[in-house]
Amino acid sequence: MYTEKVMDHFRNPRNVGFIENADGVGQVGNPKCGDIMKIYLKINDHEIIEDVKFETFGCGSAIASSSMATELIKGKSIHEAVEFTNKAVVEALEGLPAVKVHCSVLAEQAVKSALFDYSQKTNKVIKGLENYEPEDEGMHCQ
Ligand code: FES
Repeated sequence: MYTEKVMDHFRNPRNVGFIENADGVGQVGNPKCGDIMKIYLKINDHEIIEDVKFETFGCGSAIASSSMATELIKGKSIHEAVEFTNKAVVEALEGLPAVKVHCSVLAEQAVKSALFDYSQKTNKVIKGLENYEPEDEGMHCQ
């Protein structure tokens, strides 16, 4: 049912933890299953994501998705990271069962939420997040 990649990232998740004084923090929850994902970003003066950590209280697919998401956005610029989608996570994990795709959506939302937090703190406009509404987060994840 699960690919080896999913099992690997579930058993040995990368970048678990939190970043003190993070430049951006995003937390989203899935109201249906109650799972919660939190992403911390350390962003340098060149707008590059220097470090990223996550805390996920959720299912195995959510943990594997968060782990893969952190690997995919680490070292990227904030403008590249905002293009990040759950599809990239699913592809990198070499697939998720259809009923578990929503878990990867949580990872996309957590990253966007953390980038939005950064844009708010720094007064920077990130293209793609202009109409972002944090209150809605999690509601699309079914
Ligand atoms: Fe809730 Fe996977 S079942 S995020």
